[in-house]
Amino acid sequence: PLVSMRQLLDHAAENGYGLPAFNVNNLEQVRAVMEAARETRSPVILQGSAGARKYAGEQFLRHLIQAAVEAYPEIPIVMHQDHGASPAICQAAIRSGFTSVMMDGSLQADGKTVASYEYNVETTATVVAFAHSIGVSVEGELGVLGSLETMKGDKEDGHGAEGTMTREQLLTDPDQAADFVKRTQVDALAIAIGTSHGAYKFSKKPTGETLAISRIKEIHARIPNTHLVMHGSSSVPQELLEEIRKYGGDMKETYGVPVEEIVEGIKHGVRKVNIDTDLRLAMTAAIRRVFATKPGEFDPRKYNAEAQKAASAVCKARYEAFGAAGQA
Ligand code: G3H
Ligand code: 13P
Ligand code: NA
Ligand code: ZN
Repeated sequence: PLVSMRQLLDHAAENGYGLPAFNVNNLEQVRAVMEAARETRSPVILQGSAGARKYAGEQFLRHLIQAAVEAYPEIPIVMHQDHGASPAICQAAIRSGFTSVMMDGSLQADGKTVASYEYNVETTATVVAFAHSIGVSVEGELGVLGSLETMKGDKEDGHGAEGTMTREQLLTDPDQAADFVKRTQVDALAIAIGTSHGAYKFSKKPTGETLAISRIKEIHARIPNTHLVMHGSSSVPQELLEEIRKYGGDMKETYGVPVEEIVEGIKHGVRKVNIDTDLRLAMTAAIRRVFATKPGEFDPRKYNAEAQKAASAVCKARYEAFGAAGQA
């Protein structure tokens, strides 16, 4: 059944686990997540970005998720809008049936200018007011996603802050987080700790300097009852990069967020872990493998089925590592 985000995250907090939240854009990604969830008996968060709405269209996105609800009746599913840029966008998502929305007020509505703290509080509180009145959950974001290696905002997939940031901006402040949650009443808070969206997060394996898991602990100590969210949390498995390269792809050296660091975050209040890139890498590797090893194959069902299987293996591994397996 469709459930609210709050319900799932409260359960995750009570039972000490984390939920991966997978971005979905098409049939194969939705089924990859759902097959892994069924196999591991995990609750599910399916999230659609603005890019997903642009690619699939709002109706297809909505019906794909509703199809999952119908086809996997035993699994609780949250239908979450990822990175809403304005209250109007969140309102439209709620009208179309989403049970959870993210109001990302860390940036202005253009998606690239860093917003003032007051703007963030006001827009987020506005969304909470109308969402909560009808049982829809809200995720807010405080701090700017970006790299502590380069001090650059997150621009890899076309959205995120433009230009050079300060360390202050790239690390969520625990006292400000407490004030933000008090004033907005968000159900979940996305924090900045040095992760960024896309495949190119770290030029070498991250250390405490470039991935501030210690900051999660400080924030959690300050607001122990708030569900924390990690964005940009793909692990960018080296074996997927190698497979993509082996079959003709061009991917530079890069590192993601190690699964064991996410698990450490989950011990300190992280309940939702956003993952998109790892599914993209898994699907690309599988399709490249089919094209390279079976050049005569031209049925999209054949290579898309391989892509689905590869993405599903990633989902299964995350459900197990984050402790969500067995919780549905
Ligand atoms: O928020 C970032 C997600 O990875 C979604 O990316 O806007 O390309 O769909 P997208
Ligand atoms: P990745 O690019 O690391 O998968 O992050 C996805 C994300 O945060 C979506 O909101
Ligand atoms: Na989100
Ligand atoms: Zn994100």
